[in-house]
Amino acid sequence: MIKVLVFGKNGQLARSLAWRCKAFAGLRLQFLDRNDCDVAQSGNITKAVDLYRPDIVINATAYTAVDLAESEPELARRVNCDAVRGMAENAARHSVPFIHVSTDYVFDGEGKVPYRETDPVAPLGVYGATKLAGEEAVRTITNQHLILRTSWVYSPFGKNFVKTMLRLLGDKKHISVVDDQQGCPTSALDLATAILRIVPDIIRRDFDQFGTYHLVSDAEMTWRAFTSEIQAKATKILGEQWLGATCEIKAVTSAEFPTAAKRPSYSVMSTEKFIANFGFDLPEFNHSLIEVLRNLVEGEEYA
Ligand SMILES: NC(=O)c1ccc[n+]([C@@H]2O[C@H](COP(=O)([O-])OP(=O)(O)OC[C@H]3O[C@@H](n4cnc5c(N)ncnc54)[C@H](OP(=O)(O)O)[C@@H]3O)[C@@H](O)[C@H]2O)c1
Repeated sequence: MIKVLVFGKNGQLARSLAWRCKAFAGLRLQFLDRNDCDVAQSGNITKAVDLYRPDIVINATAYTAVDLAESEPELARRVNCDAVRGMAENAARHSVPFIHVSTDYVFDGEGKVPYRETDPVAPLGVYGATKLAGEEAVRTITNQHLILRTSWVYSPFGKNFVKTMLRLLGDKKHISVVDDQQGCPTSALDLATAILRIVPDIIRRDFDQFGTYHLVSDAEMTWRAFTSEIQAKATKILGEQWLGATCEIKAVTSAEFPTAAKRPSYSVMSTEKFIANFGFDLPEFNHSLIEVLRNLVEGEEYA
């Protein structure tokens, strides 16, 4: 049995890992929530890793409030950088691999073709900068790391764009959605399955493909187009009588919808390296979005 210590328990990724791990009989996952281990308090991480003595450590915690981070840079740094450094140090001390998840917001969005892992980074805001600092700390501390950069994460759990849009589409006659930022919406359920699939590989002594990878869905679109996909697929599931079926989705620019943190206008990432080294890709976007929508509209347990 492979012992997996997961920092985080209630976020989208952690809950997706908890759900998906039922299909992985050889893995035993231990999740730590904020009460078990506040990762922003130094010392907690060391105690947890010493107590559980895992075969691998996964970080599913993060400070993800992109706009709030602009006014709480210290807290964002403690969670996205200092805590990540602590996890990497403790994984290294126990000679076990560390899987960390990062973000497309490390890029400035000036690119025109899908970003590769080797492309220059230049975060536009505090969230991206603290996530980048976390990545850099991991690389400095341990070679036995996987940094998986993902983007636009949605799931049946927690707060996310799909849940917000489902609610707004059902409540309003018109909504305005930004149409000049392009990225790859990615299901946390798919990320979880991919992570659990690679765990047995990366704990092997001869595994030599550690490093940074992009892991996102195959679909590039704007937030407005993503909202149209949500509307079309939810209408298929709920029927034409669903109030959201007729909500008008108006395209607006980022300038018309100002936020505290600037977002990259283009953050599509290439998954070629992940596919080449691990031999599989995330499932098709349409399938993944329908799966999450079905869980949202049919299963009240995923509140
Ligand atoms: N969400 C996205 O769109 C997105 C996009 C790109 C990359 N990512 C990356 O993907 C990963 C997973 O994101 P996610 O969507 O699952 O995030 P999430 O739903 O916001 O979950 C983050 C979790 O971190 C926990 N946490 C925050 N501070 C903590 C602390 N001091 N001690 C212990 N736990 C703490 C939170 O605990 P509480 O529940 O107690 O608050 C929460 O459960 C992150 O690395 C994120 O940066 C996310």
